[in-house]
Amino acid sequence: MRTPLVAGNWKMFKGAAEAVAYAKVFRALAKDLTTVELVIAPPFTAVHGVADALRNSGIATAGQDCHWEKDGAFTGAVSAPMLKEAGAELVILGHSERRRVFGDTDADVTRKIHAAYAAGLAPIACVGETLEEREASRTFEVLDTQLKAVIDGVSGEQFAQMVIAYEPVWAIGTGRNATPEQAQEAHAHIRGRLRAWLGADAADKCQILYGGSVKPDNARAILQQPDVDGALVGGASLDPHGFFTIASAA
Ligand code: G3H
Repeated sequence: MRTPLVAGNWKMFKGAAEAVAYAKVFRALAKDLTTVELVIAPPFTAVHGVADALRNSGIATAGQDCHWEKDGAFTGAVSAPMLKEAGAELVILGHSERRRVFGDTDADVTRKIHAAYAAGLAPIACVGETLEEREASRTFEVLDTQLKAVIDGVSGEQFAQMVIAYEPVWAIGTGRNATPEQAQEAHAHIRGRLRAWLGADAADKCQILYGGSVKPDNARAILQQPDVDGALVGGASLDPHGFFTIASAA
């Protein structure tokens, strides 16, 4: 009932020229992959070029973050309307690297989500626990707190545009992915909370992606889980052929 979505988050890799070359290769590879929604999130400087290279391909471009104001004296920041103008259709918000390295709080994530909607961007909202939190049996509590911030003040119509990504922090870039069972357990919990807070229809339609060391050789087992609707892929999305293999497994 839910269309799978596979997104590649390139993080701080690839300049504009390399990014456009990748987009052209990937576009050709994925031209017949019509059963999966595809998204590429390059660094800011490559958003325009990648969106241009993917025009009319059905593959969407996303930003990796945005500021909550539309403009202002915020050195180094990029706003949601700027991303939209550059050709982005979605924006990743609340990624654990933004939370941990740049200090984004749940309140920041809420503000950014509303800025994204105001600019016509669909949020890919990230939640996930650290290893310490998992070992202290706090996973569900942490997910609930982050999820509440993600849906705070979001209307039903807006929520229908949202994608949620469950990314256990201990699995990101570590080569240690969650087992399919761990992923399914967390995803089922998230969907259960969405059902309780927003209703069955909203919960059943929401695409919940898994992120954390997804690779061509482990993608299928994770993506087969009933509540896993796709993947947010970091390192393994940097090669168009590997990313295509993962997308094909969805
Ligand atoms: O946004 C993507 C995630 O942080 C996963 O990154 O696939 O390199 O572990 P990774």
